[in-house]
Amino acid sequence: MASARINPSILAADFVNMQAELGRIAAADFVHVDVMDNHFVPNLTFGPQMVGRIQDTSPVPLDVHLMIDDPDRWAPAYAELGAASVTFHLEAAHEPVALARRLREIGARAGVAVKPGTGVESLFDIFDEFDQILVMTVEPGFGGQSFMPETMPKLRRLSDEARRRGSSVWLQVDGGIGESTIAQAAEAGADTFVAGSAVFGAGDPAAAIAGLRAAAQH
Ligand code: DX5
Ligand code: ZN
Repeated sequence: MASARINPSILAADFVNMQAELGRIAAADFVHVDVMDNHFVPNLTFGPQMVGRIQDTSPVPLDVHLMIDDPDRWAPAYAELGAASVTFHLEAAHEPVALARRLREIGARAGVAVKPGTGVESLFDIFDEFDQILVMTVEPGFGGQSFMPETMPKLRRLSDEARRRGSSVWLQVDGGIGESTIAQAAEAGADTFVAGSAVFGAGDPAAAIAGLRAAAQH
């Protein structure tokens, strides 16, 4: 695998010191920004205004993960404010293909996410509409949960499908990723890894990022 992409999730950051927290992850590939609406998931974070300020301040590009209802209505605004990628949930989207096309048209990478209980078969017909596919490795909503190894067969199916098509889609995992779990996700085909507590909970986030990158290669 080419070098693993490590995307720290600011859900585990200190929200009142966001500028300093963003400075601690300058060695990351992207900053993962979890938007939650208290409807699609039972938790609430922030919206476009806050994400716009993170965009102005972050040393690395933004990877926005929308855990919200009706992304068809709300997702384009995050692409418009300059996020490098915008990922919406397949379970929540009314017209996933139209939405992915709109995000690409604005200039963002289009991403689709699936919860642990959602199958990936329906993505095979619309595979090329996406630049990245996120397999949730915990139930979305909270940081600090345990990695669910039972999600790995879905990743293998996606990675086989990508290989079969010669697709360069990025396969992302999110939830419970740390030095002890990242290798099995990499082995199943993931190349992009979201880590909240494993990075922001570390005394030295740059070392934690390097440790995750190295562990993903094994
Ligand atoms: C969970 C979020 C994750 C979360 C991961 O719903 O989508 O991005 O921040 O946190 P950790 O890495 O602590 O499991
Ligand atoms: Zn996330």
